[in-house]
Amino acid sequence: MEYVIKAENLWKIYPDGTKALRGVNFTLRKGEFVGIMGPSGSGKSTLIHLLGGLDKPTQGKVFFMERDISLMTEEELTNFRRGKVAYIFQFYYLLEDFTVLENLLLIGDLLGIKSAQQKALDLLTLLRLSHRLNHKPYQLSGGEQQRVAIGRALMAEPTVIFADEPTGNIDWEEGKKIFDIFKKLNEEKGISFVVATHNPELSRYFNRIVKLRDGVSTV
Ligand SMILES: Nc1ncnc2c1ncn2[C@@H]1O[C@H](COP(=O)(O)OP(=O)(O)OP(=O)(O)O)[C@@H](O)[C@H]1O
Ligand SMILES: [Mg+2]
Repeated sequence: MEYVIKAENLWKIYPDGTKALRGVNFTLRKGEFVGIMGPSGSGKSTLIHLLGGLDKPTQGKVFFMERDISLMTEEELTNFRRGKVAYIFQFYYLLEDFTVLENLLLIGDLLGIKSAQQKALDLLTLLRLSHRLNHKPYQLSGGEQQRVAIGRALMAEPTVIFADEPTGNIDWEEGKKIFDIFKKLNEEKGISFVVATHNPELSRYFNRIVKLRDGVSTV
């Protein structure tokens, strides 16, 4: 098996009739760092949601390591989402009442991860947040908050990370640091990435780019 994800002929028609995806094919091989690029409204977020099992296609199939995720029960899908894939969004969705360290430890508890404390500390060091362990999200910059979100995503040791406009709320200098971290995780830990962005300046980071326009892949 050489691919992690394979999607065939994906259509997404929202209940109001909007055809957000019109027959998209997509393959992600292990260790790839793929960009999904295209103008606003072209279907990038929709595609990320379908590939990551967060939403179901109207037509077409998504295979994760040869398993058809549309045939998974809700419980299997939840386990799949918890174990194999992680998500990073434009808005960080941190738990506001908890510190940086606690935000990671709570994921550790949820997933039943052993040595969660040590793992969280190691990740926060990697993410250059060791001096912010006991701060709460509102005390952090946007880039720092996104790095906490990355730390949470990494607690589960995912095979794939999906990121939807992960630097959309961050200035360019901080955004580059986030992409440098992604690249390092990709190269050193072999984590595959699927990243949606409409920022052309980020295209040089990707091994491969899928271009979307009006719900159709043009490459
Ligand atoms: N829940 C929904 N119901 C109806 N239409 C939707 C829904 N979500 C998205 N759309 C529409 O589907 C199309 C694709 O949207 P999508 O969010 O996937 O685009 P995008 O490429 O991520 O855009 P952006 O760069 O602005 O984030 C758009 O026309 C959008 O208006
Ligand atoms: Mg989007």
